[in-house]
Amino acid sequence: MKLAKILTFPIIGDNRGSLIALQTFQNIPFDIKRIYYIFDTLSGVSRGFHAHQKLQQVLICVKGSCRILLDDGKHKENIILNSPQTGLLIENLIWREMHDFSEDCVLLVLASEYYDESDYIRDYDNFLRCL
Ligand code: TYD
Repeated sequence: MKLAKILTFPIIGDNRGSLIALQTFQNIPFDIKRIYYIFDTLSGVSRGFHAHQKLQQVLICVKGSCRILLDDGKHKENIILNSPQTGLLIENLIWREMHDFSEDCVLLVLASEYYDESDYIRDYDNFLRCL
């Protein structure tokens, strides 16, 4: 994976089950300002189709699976997220699409900034111009 970094989180497990802890500047390389999660995605629906000017995000599929397509304007890469132990660190100026959500998919997203629509690049040709 060249267009994003894969983070592997250790499981703190005991005889009751598993737990993963995420902490700013420890296993998450930015100040977490926002957390959101995508779930109950309808069959066949894809999301995303944008890049960000500034925002960094870590995507974690805590349940189920989905496919993330990344594009830096020159190359495209796909990754299947299907483990709560795996975080996908996506930097700014990377086009992302989310596809193939399983019915039970819960995609947790940690973000480095508050929600700001003006940070979005939602038009692909505009994205290419921004690079
Ligand atoms: P959008 O970013 O388009 O979703 P996706 O990229 O996953 O397809 O967001 C969908 C709607 O939710 C849009 O109206 C903006 C709103 N939204 C917030 O209010 N806060 C947030 O943190 C996010 C991510 C979206």
